[in-house]
Amino acid sequence: MRILVVFESMLGATEEVAEAVGKGLAVSAPAEVVNVDKAPRDLTGVDLLVIGGPTHVHGMSRAATRKSAADQTSGPVRSRTGMREWLDSLESAPGGLPVATFDTRVEKARVLTGAASLGEAKRLRRLGCRLVVPAESFFVETSPADAGLKSGEAERAEAWGAALGRIVA
Ligand SMILES: Cc1cc2nc3c(=O)[nH]c(=O)nc-3n(C[C@H](O)[C@H](O)[C@H](O)COP(=O)(O)O)c2cc1C
Repeated sequence: MRILVVFESMLGATEEVAEAVGKGLAVSAPAEVVNVDKAPRDLTGVDLLVIGGPTHVHGMSRAATRKSAADQTSGPVRSRTGMREWLDSLESAPGGLPVATFDTRVEKARVLTGAASLGEAKRLRRLGCRLVVPAESFFVETSPADAGLKSGEAERAEAWGAALGRIVA
């Protein structure tokens, strides 16, 4: 079974979630965890696609919000391109491909924060993919901007990946 986890991350938190999800999935089958910058555009042969990115201005990032994120850290950014652009570049996906989406965001009511995972799910459904679990969010510390995940979120991401693996296997 080929499992592909594609992440976009500016400040590192979503990359940490993606690695934890991959670790959880690996209990069922090995998972490739790939930065969106290097993600394949041809999904032939993929049995489960999991995608995740940071929530920016209530949804998926755009070039301007990625620049704003980059301005908020003295460290390197992880992704140069965005999930939105990668999804736009996919002309098709295998019919009924099982997929799951996640994001990172601030821990407040979703109506206030938005969630990139919802937009990701919408795009994938439009491509004919089949969501196997509801879109999920993992929470970041808010100050400083690059403080990373809240305590316990990496473990929760690993458990989410493990549960997802069991469903698909
Ligand atoms: C330009 C910008 C806009 C943001 N907008 C939101 C938002 O609308 N809702 C939210 O919950 N978090 C928002 N955030 C916080 C991000 O979700 C947070 O930086 C991200 O989860 C960190 O992931 P990363 O470390 O992988 O980049 C925003 C951050 C930036 C830089």
